[in-house]
Amino acid sequence: MSFPYQIKTLEQYRQVYQQSVSDPEGFWAEIAAQFTWKKPWDKVLEWNFKEPNVKWFIGGKLNITENCLDRHLAENANQPAIIWESNDPSEHHRVLSYKQLHAKVCQFAWVLKNNGVKNGDRICLYMGMIPELAIAVLACARIGAVHSVIFGGFSAQSIADRLQDAQAEYIITCDGAFRGAKDIPLKSVIDDALVTCPFVKRVIVYTRTRTPVSMIKGRDLWWEDEINKVETMGNPDFPAEMMDAEDPLFILYTSGSTGKPKGVVHSSAGYMIYTNYSFVNVFQYQKGDVHFCTADIGWITGHSYIVYGPLSAGATSLMFEGVPTFPDAGRFWNIVQKYKVNILYTAPTAIRSLMVFGTEFPANYDLSSLKVLGTVGEPINEEAWHWYDEFIGHKKCPIVDTWWQTETGGILISNLAGVTPAKPAHATLPLPGVQPILVDENGKEVEGNGVSGNLCIRFPWPSIIRTTYGDHERCRTTYFSTYENLYFTGDGALRDEEGFYRITGRVDDVLNVSGHRIGTAEVENAINMHHGVVESAVVGYPHEIKGQGIYAYVIYNGNLEDQDLARKDITATVSRIIGPIAKPDKIQFVGGLPKTRSGKIMRRILRKIAEGELQSLGDTTTLLDPAVVEEIKTSRL
Ligand code: WT7
Repeated sequence: MSFPYQIKTLEQYRQVYQQSVSDPEGFWAEIAAQFTWKKPWDKVLEWNFKEPNVKWFIGGKLNITENCLDRHLAENANQPAIIWESNDPSEHHRVLSYKQLHAKVCQFAWVLKNNGVKNGDRICLYMGMIPELAIAVLACARIGAVHSVIFGGFSAQSIADRLQDAQAEYIITCDGAFRGAKDIPLKSVIDDALVTCPFVKRVIVYTRTRTPVSMIKGRDLWWEDEINKVETMGNPDFPAEMMDAEDPLFILYTSGSTGKPKGVVHSSAGYMIYTNYSFVNVFQYQKGDVHFCTADIGWITGHSYIVYGPLSAGATSLMFEGVPTFPDAGRFWNIVQKYKVNILYTAPTAIRSLMVFGTEFPANYDLSSLKVLGTVGEPINEEAWHWYDEFIGHKKCPIVDTWWQTETGGILISNLAGVTPAKPAHATLPLPGVQPILVDENGKEVEGNGVSGNLCIRFPWPSIIRTTYGDHERCRTTYFSTYENLYFTGDGALRDEEGFYRITGRVDDVLNVSGHRIGTAEVENAINMHHGVVESAVVGYPHEIKGQGIYAYVIYNGNLEDQDLARKDITATVSRIIGPIAKPDKIQFVGGLPKTRSGKIMRRILRKIAEGELQSLGDTTTLLDPAVVEEIKTSRL
């Protein structure tokens, strides 16, 4: 693989950027021509942000797995595609070469076909971080089924909501998953979800933890038994299904400012091209590099920078089953040393949580293989940035601060490692092909440098969200109706004197907890399900490790003699309804909530109180009952 589109100098960046703006179609067509197509496209782009309707490489036919697997076989068949490190450091690691991964993907695609899966069917994947998850993802893509991976931290109820929304008839899961000292009973959570999902035809279960599971006759099958059947068939090759450039590749659910998560839909060709292009440029990937992205495949980061970006580039992608602090806080550094990792891509939350354990842990390992460090998911504070730079990169590794979203498919704003300048806590400059714009509340462009505004994008890039599954109108109202002819990100940003972007955080009611997106309305709905709760309001507050913590104000008419027990009950309810990742950090019981005369909760005031800014609450005289503010202030946690 060669990457003629890999930008090598700052000067070249500037020139390519200009070209991408003056002739976007020509720019992307040149990159797209580097991939394997079954049929070339007729037209590069058709778009409007009104409906919205965005189509890239119209008429083109391809299969993303031919680009991620088959095309590497001629020259790189024996190169490791996936290196897998177990949760348990004493368990032997696994390596799958491109040839072996190709064979396993074909095998599992046969399993899917033997069970009646067809092009276009939706398949839900609820698995731990094992190679079989990547194999299952790719097998879906090979047969043309739309995968929807659900992170292991979501509850049965959340899974059921997603299964119903996607009308997914197939599930692939494991008996359980290891995460640190925990063993998560995945199949049993699926069984609970399926009580309300009778349309599910098949559940294929891979054995990982040997946790006892109930296997329902006629519905549940063991992965291993199904593979045996394909072996009996003689392991035939599985010809990749011919997909249209715009056919959906996957659905990934994410939270918004309303109660119901939405299914973000990504396309086949555009997503492939953009994840590859951004991977090669941002991380400055060189042939033979070992790339370690610490995210879970249950999030977009894992989709784009563990699976599709690296594999489409023929890279070696390291997959880690465990957590950064198990068996101790040296685990990441141990992995870097063991596999001579060249590129490390992680979240500010992980860095902050490891900083707490001191510099002895990284100092104990040989980190000299590292060339590039990356962060993603939330703003990185300068202290964490400098720690990462000094104690992990030893001041010789550029740090890329990559800003993007589930909806953008790939990195949109980031420095290019060692090519464009880095600046602590700044995502810096857009990738060529990306046209950011800042606007004020009225949608008027904020021009010049040293300014701030709401971050929008004014021209489509190939991996832009195509729709929200089953509800295109929701896609329009959420992203394309706030400002005319612009994609609205939901983030606020500064553009500094040098023209570098600094993302300041969400401007909507969405929280970013440990780099995971959680809607306040979703958490409120879950809290309100508890029988003693009358009403609740949820806001974010600055949290030293997680970036943001979840602060809940709750009006409770149940027994409050034991406040601690009531809090635990509410927390258990949230865990049951959404999953452990949405548990509130603080629950304050209040007599009332600050509301306007029209009944709207004044979140601004609640946010200030949660942040501890009690002096600057602003005007409270217009409230229905200004006295509640005083009460909330005095009983603040
Ligand atoms: C939100 C998207 C993108 C993969 C992981 C999260 C925040 C993301 C950065 C960054 C500051 C960032 C934004 C964005 N965010 N990267 N480098 N600097 N903020 O994906 O769950 O879709 O969340 O994460 O607020 O809107 P997501």
